[in-house]
Amino acid sequence: MAALPSSARRRATTVAVEDYLEKIEQLIADKGYARVVDIAAGLKISQASVTAMVQRLDAEGFIKYEKYRGMVLTSSGLEVARRIAHRHQLLTDFLRVLGVSDEKIIYDDVEGMEHHISPETFQAIEALTRHLEKNPAVVTKAMTAARPTVR
Ligand code: FE2
Repeated sequence: MAALPSSARRRATTVAVEDYLEKIEQLIADKGYARVVDIAAGLKISQASVTAMVQRLDAEGFIKYEKYRGMVLTSSGLEVARRIAHRHQLLTDFLRVLGVSDEKIIYDDVEGMEHHISPETFQAIEALTRHLEKNPAVVTKAMTAARPTVR
C-alpha cells in the first residue's frame, strides 16, 4: 500500500486522537472512569492498539495514564474532548432538524463530519440549525419542494 502523504497522515492522526479523547470523556462522564477494555469495546479496536494509543496520548499531554489506576484527561485533553462533543451534538441537531430520522445514519455521518469542518463552516451550520429549529416550516417547505410529487 502506498504511504499516505504527510498531510493526510496528520489528518488521520488528529481524527484518531479526537475520537479517543471523545470516547474517554464520555466513559468518565457515564461511569466515572475509562479503562482500556471499555475504550476498545466503544471504538471497536483491539486492546493492544488502545494501550499503544493511550500511552501516546499520555506522552503528548492529553491524558495522565497509570496502568492499574486508569486515566484522567488533562486540561488540553479535556479541551479537545469538549470541542468534539460540542460539534457532535450540534451536527446531530442539524441532521435532525433537516429531517434525517435514522439514528444510525445520523451517528455515522456525524462521527465523520465532526472532524472535518472548519470553525467558519461550523459557525454557519450552528446559526442555520438554531434558525431552522425555530422555523420548522422552512424545512418542511424545502423538503416538499425537493421531492417529486407522487401521482
Ligand atoms: Fe463523535
